[in-house]
Amino acid sequence: MVIGGRHILHGVDLDVAASGTTALLGRNGAGKTTTVRGILGLVPRTGSVLLAGAETVRLATHALVRHGVGYAPEDRGVFAALTVAENLRLAERPGTGEPAYGLVHELFPELKQRARQAAGTLSGGQQQMVAIARTLLNGNRLIIADEPTKGLAPKVVTEVTRVLERAAEAVPVLLVEQNLAVVRRLARHCAVLADGRTAHRGPAAELLADPDATRRLLGVGHASRGRTGDTRTPSPAAPAHTAAHPAARTAEADA
Ligand SMILES: Nc1ncnc2c1ncn2[C@@H]1O[C@H](COP(=O)(O)OP(=O)(O)OP(=O)(O)O)[C@@H](O)[C@H]1O
Ligand SMILES: [Mg+2]
Repeated sequence: MVIGGRHILHGVDLDVAASGTTALLGRNGAGKTTTVRGILGLVPRTGSVLLAGAETVRLATHALVRHGVGYAPEDRGVFAALTVAENLRLAERPGTGEPAYGLVHELFPELKQRARQAAGTLSGGQQQMVAIARTLLNGNRLIIADEPTKGLAPKVVTEVTRVLERAAEAVPVLLVEQNLAVVRRLARHCAVLADGRTAHRGPAAELLADPDATRRLLGVGHASRGRTGDTRTPSPAAPAHTAAHPAARTAEADA
């Protein structure tokens, strides 16, 4: 993948499981955001991006969105001057059935209470809730969330994690995340990027249990046990799962 004349990604290959959460990991600058922007067609890319088995690499972003890919970007991308309700209304997609306000209000009761509040006056955690809620409105087939817990207070990290866990029960999630306690809690599978390449793929729990691997791949000597923000929420056991087709798979040829 070439951005600004530079090769950013050189051979990213990852599968997103057809259910639950798949984590995309890597140190700062490893290429995580560029990878998800590549999947979405927001940056030029070559290779193959399969969504439920169908090739999408030549689709424009708007077409991919119509195919059911929801995106909560790294900067959250909420419209600060618009109300919560207006932010959600803008995310509605005609032709995808009734927007799932029932689900959104069940998962985010606070957003219902704050429907008329300008999104710019929300806390970082509440803005993140708006960003995730938008991806759940339209019956998407895949949700991509880029560092949804970044910069949030520990208690809010726990709330966002809980919401992501519920979201992943409905829709497969590709989660870019640096908080390894959140990864431990949510992700069954993971891919690790290093210098624009896939450096590791496998079960998330296996990677996090291996201090040498986490040090080498993520620069963290010890993946702390359990804490996403508070300690009351133990990791659920990962259910066994096999998929005929992964929800999405991407293989970036050298671009
Ligand atoms: N628009 C751009 N122009 C030039 N270089 C870019 C651009 N966007 C990203 N890069 C470079 O590409 C590399 C990968 O960046 P990217 O943002 O994908 O990493 P990341 O893994 O998401 O990092 P972080 O953990 O900091 O979010 C970095 O070296 C970055 O400086
Ligand atoms: Mg990033």
